[in-house]
Amino acid sequence: MLDQHVDKILIVDDEEEIAQALKLFLDDEGFASSLASDGATALDMLEKEKDYSVVLLDISMPGLDGVTVLRRLHDAGSDTAVIMMSGYGNEELAVECMRNGAEDYISKPFALEDMRQRIERARAHRRARIEKRQLQQEKEDFILMLSHDMKNPLTAVIGSIDIIREGRLGAVNEEQGEYLQSAIDSCNEVVIMIDNLLDIRKFEAGKIQMAIHPCNVHELISKVADQFARPASHDGIELTVDLQPGTSEIAVDRNAFTRVLGNLLGNALKFTPEGGRIAVSCRSIHGDTVRALKIPAYATIPPDFPEGNCFIRVAVRDTGNGIPTDELDRIFDRYTQFTRRTERERGGAGLGLAYCKLAIESFHGMIWAECEAGHGSNFVILLPCCSESSSGGK
Ligand SMILES: Nc1ncnc2c1ncn2[C@@H]1O[C@H](COP(=O)(O)OP(=O)(O)OP(=O)(O)O)[C@@H](O)[C@H]1O
Ligand SMILES: [Mg+2]
Repeated sequence: MLDQHVDKILIVDDEEEIAQALKLFLDDEGFASSLASDGATALDMLEKEKDYSVVLLDISMPGLDGVTVLRRLHDAGSDTAVIMMSGYGNEELAVECMRNGAEDYISKPFALEDMRQRIERARAHRRARIEKRQLQQEKEDFILMLSHDMKNPLTAVIGSIDIIREGRLGAVNEEQGEYLQSAIDSCNEVVIMIDNLLDIRKFEAGKIQMAIHPCNVHELISKVADQFARPASHDGIELTVDLQPGTSEIAVDRNAFTRVLGNLLGNALKFTPEGGRIAVSCRSIHGDTVRALKIPAYATIPPDFPEGNCFIRVAVRDTGNGIPTDELDRIFDRYTQFTRRTERERGGAGLGLAYCKLAIESFHGMIWAECEAGHGSNFVILLPCCSESSSGGK
């Protein structure tokens, strides 16, 4: 059964008899077909009318041959599906054409019914390609909209609520303050999600800019942990921070590393029920201790992961539901989420860990998760020390 929509088909062949027979058949089948007897005319017609859905293109023609026409169409970004028509002995060339963007090829002489089926297939593929491109475009537009049209107003909303919460416009009682704080927290969650999404895209496009400098890891951890102290106590969760004495420096982008920790702590909080515990720890590790680490097979060791002898190990451990062991290799992929949640059911886009992985790898480090069913999760970051002398003991 043919599609209701009348598709335009261009037949390009210098053999008039074949072309005419094909045209009659296709018009009979409900297509609107046109003829071109050489490559140059075909390119001209396709340039003027861009709505041809399929081109049936003879490979051997005087002047511009089918291979050249195909290449020019491809270079011009045409989305018209091309079916090559090859004469005897031209099969290898036809296969080469398929590698260069032709949808299909058919050897002459061919049965008209065979040609009809190939046209149907080519049309379906073309439609799918166009739909995919449109979806991709919609996604791009949506992301652009997110960054410009949602993040800025949200930041303004947070600012305004904060002014009220601080009591600058009149007294605010404790309960009101809590509601306002919770509104701010929710807005912040969305802002973090948008930032994750935008930065993941920048990483993918190779456009991320990191300001990597030696930073005091204890200071960064303390800063983030302080921000989580209130929400943790609000949720009835004990948050502890254990920093090994001594100053350890890591080469990271302050903002990005802070966001990584924020994502890990945010997850720990989100997936740990009331009464649970979250423990953040930081240690310098050396030599044999590094070699004894059980780095799971799924953790990507970056190609530039240093062989050095001193690393900083930061861990965020919680007593939540944990993650099924067989799912651990997927959690750092974008949009991966597991339905099992605590009773506090909070949303999320499944982007936080994907961002963490990209950011940590850009610091030449590694991140992985260690979980045992029912025993919570432990997210581990391993980063090279800035220098051997900066480490704080074993
Ligand atoms: N500490 C944790 N305990 C249990 N499950 C976790 C924990 N951290 C992550 N997960 C699981 O891994 C999934 C992916 O985490 P990720 O941070 O990428 O996404 P998210 O938190 O769902 O959404 P987003 O971070 O975009 O707000 C989570 O949905 C959850 O299923
Ligand atoms: Mg998250």
